[in-house]
Amino acid sequence: MSLRDAARAVMENAYAPYSRFKVGAAIRAASGAVYRGCNVENAAYPEGTCAEAGAIAAMVAAGETRLTEVYVTATGPDPVTPCGGCRQKLAEFGTSDVVVTMGCAGTDELRMTLGELLPGAFASQHMRD
Ligand code: THU
Repeated sequence: MSLRDAARAVMENAYAPYSRFKVGAAIRAASGAVYRGCNVENAAYPEGTCAEAGAIAAMVAAGETRLTEVYVTATGPDPVTPCGGCRQKLAEFGTSDVVVTMGCAGTDELRMTLGELLPGAFASQHMRD
Protein backbone atom coordinates (compact mmCIF):
# COMPACT_ATOMS: atom_id res chain seq x y z
CA MET A 1 0.00 0.00 0.00
CA SER A 2 1.32 3.45 -0.88
CA LEU A 3 2.01 6.05 1.79
CA ARG A 4 -0.84 8.09 0.32
CA ASP A 5 -3.30 5.21 0.59
CA ALA A 6 -2.16 4.48 4.16
CA ALA A 7 -2.73 8.11 5.17
CA ARG A 8 -6.13 8.26 3.50
CA ALA A 9 -7.22 5.00 5.15
CA VAL A 10 -6.23 6.00 8.69
CA MET A 11 -7.84 9.43 8.20
CA GLU A 12 -11.19 7.65 8.18
CA ASN A 13 -10.59 6.66 11.82
CA ALA A 14 -9.91 10.20 12.98
CA TYR A 15 -11.88 11.26 16.04
CA ALA A 16 -12.76 14.83 15.18
CA PRO A 17 -16.28 15.56 16.45
CA TYR A 18 -15.39 19.17 17.32
CA SER A 19 -13.53 20.48 14.28
CA ARG A 20 -15.03 17.93 11.86
CA PHE A 21 -11.62 18.09 10.18
CA LYS A 22 -10.20 14.59 9.81
CA VAL A 23 -6.45 14.23 9.33
CA GLY A 24 -4.39 11.13 8.54
CA ALA A 25 -0.61 10.79 8.57
CA ALA A 26 1.61 7.98 7.33
CA ILE A 27 5.31 7.81 8.03
CA ARG A 28 7.83 5.55 6.34
CA ALA A 29 10.58 4.69 8.80
CA ALA A 30 14.17 3.65 8.13
CA SER A 31 13.23 -0.07 8.11
CA GLY A 32 10.69 0.58 5.36
CA ALA A 33 7.76 -0.04 7.69
CA VAL A 34 4.83 2.39 7.56
CA TYR A 35 3.30 3.89 10.71
CA ARG A 36 -0.02 5.69 10.77
CA GLY A 37 -1.83 8.16 12.95
CA CYS A 38 -5.00 10.25 12.96
CA ASN A 39 -6.10 13.25 14.95
CA VAL A 40 -7.82 12.46 18.24
CA GLU A 41 -9.79 15.38 19.66
CA ASN A 42 -11.11 15.86 23.18
CA ALA A 43 -13.93 17.78 24.83
CA ALA A 44 -11.14 19.59 26.66
CA TYR A 45 -9.90 21.03 23.37
CA PRO A 46 -6.17 21.47 24.13
CA GLU A 47 -5.92 17.77 24.99
CA GLY A 48 -6.51 16.78 21.37
CA THR A 49 -3.62 15.34 19.41
CA CYS A 50 -2.60 15.72 15.78
CA ALA A 51 -2.36 12.91 13.23
CA GLU A 52 1.40 13.38 12.88
CA ALA A 53 1.88 12.97 16.62
CA GLY A 54 -0.05 9.69 16.52
CA ALA A 55 2.05 8.33 13.65
CA ILE A 56 5.27 9.35 15.39
CA ALA A 57 4.11 7.67 18.61
CA ALA A 58 3.36 4.45 16.69
CA MET A 59 6.80 4.54 15.06
CA VAL A 60 8.62 5.05 18.34
CA ALA A 61 6.51 2.43 20.11
CA ALA A 62 7.58 -0.05 17.42
CA GLY A 63 11.22 0.70 18.20
CA GLU A 64 12.08 3.04 15.32
CA THR A 65 13.34 6.60 15.59
CA ARG A 66 14.24 7.60 12.02
CA LEU A 67 11.73 8.57 9.35
CA THR A 68 12.42 8.86 5.61
CA GLU A 69 9.11 10.00 4.11
CA VAL A 70 5.85 11.52 5.32
CA TYR A 71 2.35 11.85 3.83
CA VAL A 72 -0.31 13.96 5.57
CA THR A 73 -3.82 14.35 4.28
CA ALA A 74 -7.15 15.75 5.43
CA THR A 75 -10.75 16.22 4.45
CA GLY A 76 -10.36 19.85 3.36
CA PRO A 77 -10.19 21.20 -0.20
CA ASP A 78 -6.53 22.31 0.01
CA PRO A 79 -3.41 20.28 0.84
CA VAL A 80 -3.06 20.27 4.63
CA THR A 81 0.17 21.69 5.98
CA PRO A 82 1.44 20.30 9.29
CA CYS A 83 0.96 22.67 12.23
CA GLY A 84 4.01 24.29 13.76
CA GLY A 85 4.21 21.82 16.62
CA CYS A 86 4.08 18.86 14.25
CA ARG A 87 6.84 20.35 12.10
CA GLN A 88 9.04 20.38 15.19
CA LYS A 89 7.97 16.83 16.13
CA LEU A 90 8.75 15.51 12.63
CA ALA A 91 12.11 17.33 12.56
CA GLU A 92 13.16 15.40 15.68
CA PHE A 93 13.14 12.15 13.72
CA GLY A 94 13.97 13.14 10.13
CA THR A 95 16.69 15.02 8.27
CA SER A 96 15.95 18.35 6.58
CA ASP A 97 15.78 16.68 3.14
CA VAL A 98 12.89 14.35 4.10
CA VAL A 99 9.95 14.98 1.78
CA VAL A 100 6.55 15.69 3.30
CA THR A 101 3.68 15.29 0.84
CA MET A 102 0.48 17.08 1.75
CA GLY A 103 -2.82 15.89 0.33
CA CYS A 104 -6.48 16.88 0.54
CA ALA A 105 -9.94 15.62 -0.36
CA GLY A 106 -9.20 16.10 -4.05
CA THR A 107 -6.16 15.18 -6.10
CA ASP A 108 -4.00 18.26 -5.34
CA GLU A 109 -0.74 17.55 -3.58
CA LEU A 110 1.98 19.78 -2.22
CA ARG A 111 5.52 18.52 -1.60
CA MET A 112 7.98 20.23 0.69
CA THR A 113 11.02 19.10 2.64
CA LEU A 114 11.19 19.21 6.41
CA GLY A 115 13.85 21.90 6.03
CA GLU A 116 11.48 24.05 3.99
CA LEU A 117 8.64 23.50 6.45
CA LEU A 118 10.76 24.38 9.48
CA PRO A 119 13.87 26.37 8.63
CA GLY A 120 16.21 26.80 11.58
CA ALA A 121 14.58 23.98 13.55
CA PHE A 122 15.61 23.77 17.18
CA ALA A 123 17.55 20.53 17.59
CA SER A 124 19.57 18.63 20.16
CA GLN A 125 22.85 20.21 19.01
CA HIS A 126 21.61 23.56 20.29
CA MET A 127 21.81 22.17 23.81
CA ARG A 128 25.53 21.32 23.61
CA ASP A 129 27.68 22.83 26.38
N1 THU B 1 -4.53 18.71 12.83
C1 THU B 1 -3.69 17.64 12.64
O1 THU B 1 -4.02 16.51 12.98
N2 THU B 1 -2.49 17.87 12.08
C2 THU B 1 -2.05 19.10 11.66
O2 THU B 1 -0.89 19.25 11.32
C3 THU B 1 -3.00 20.21 11.58
C4 THU B 1 -4.19 20.07 12.48
C5 THU B 1 -5.82 18.46 13.47
C6 THU B 1 -5.90 18.95 14.89
C7 THU B 1 -7.39 19.14 15.07
O3 THU B 1 -7.96 17.90 15.48
C8 THU B 1 -7.89 19.47 13.67
O4 THU B 1 -6.85 19.13 12.79
C9 THU B 1 -8.23 20.95 13.50
O5 THU B 1 -7.18 21.75 13.88
